[in-house]
Amino acid sequence: MLKKLVNLWRGNKDFNQDEAFLRSALDLSRLPRHVAIIMDGNGRWAHRRGMPRAYGHRAGVESLREVVRTSAELGLDVLTVYAFSTENWKRPQEEVDILMDLLVEYLHKEIDELCTNNISVRAIGRIKDLPLSAREALAVAWQRSKDNTGLTLNIALNYGGRTELVEAVKSIGVEVSKGNLDPGDIDEKIISDYLYTAGQPDPDILIRPSGDYRVSNFLLWQLAYTEFWLTTVMWPDFRRIHLLQAMVDFQRRDRRFGGLKK
Ligand code: FPP
Repeated sequence: MLKKLVNLWRGNKDFNQDEAFLRSALDLSRLPRHVAIIMDGNGRWAHRRGMPRAYGHRAGVESLREVVRTSAELGLDVLTVYAFSTENWKRPQEEVDILMDLLVEYLHKEIDELCTNNISVRAIGRIKDLPLSAREALAVAWQRSKDNTGLTLNIALNYGGRTELVEAVKSIGVEVSKGNLDPGDIDEKIISDYLYTAGQPDPDILIRPSGDYRVSNFLLWQLAYTEFWLTTVMWPDFRRIHLLQAMVDFQRRDRRFGGLKK
């Protein structure tokens, strides 16, 4: 066991690929409550195969399915996936349309299984600016799953961390101007309560595949003390084993939240 742990710690590929070993190394009582993922690399993955970007996005949906299923099995509280940013509108209209169609297809196809697995689906972002078909599919998924008590799946759509903060500040300003809130009482808790993720724990771990080392305007407030887990694996290749690797690695981190080691 010790040899296996040392190999794992050294990043030995064979041991990292051993799902049974990763499961046994995982302490189920110390799992992260909230996992956030930037589902990156679909375009490059497709390009390397000589295929259009849409091929990569479609393959990315398979990864999403597997990661959602595994997160629910593990008993995580919240999984937040970055599906479409406020900046992604700059992409060709054809690609935007494909992403919206994939979202609608995903929700229609998966909602039964999501409900069977006690998962609730929420959208975070400026949802009112999404196409009608996407808004309708999200509303149906939310309505059908809102009473589920297991994993919460946050799908970040037309999401930007800065936009989220601007909207929160505006709403707080309205309460101040109505006399419902004293500016002196504004604290971190109040700001958190005005974010799309109000009431949810901050992410414990952020996973970014595809070898890029950026936050990309994702959960800017919520990531204050989040552990980052970066991998060169492209999102369409991301599987259950990679999530387990991230979980095991997370449990080896020394989280001090600005304090000192206990
Ligand atoms: C980033 O990769 C990925 C996206 C902008 C979209 C992510 C969407 C999916 C995984 C599928 C659809 C989502 C749902 C919720 C059904 P990129 O295209 O920027 O990759 P690149 O950096 O290699 O170009």
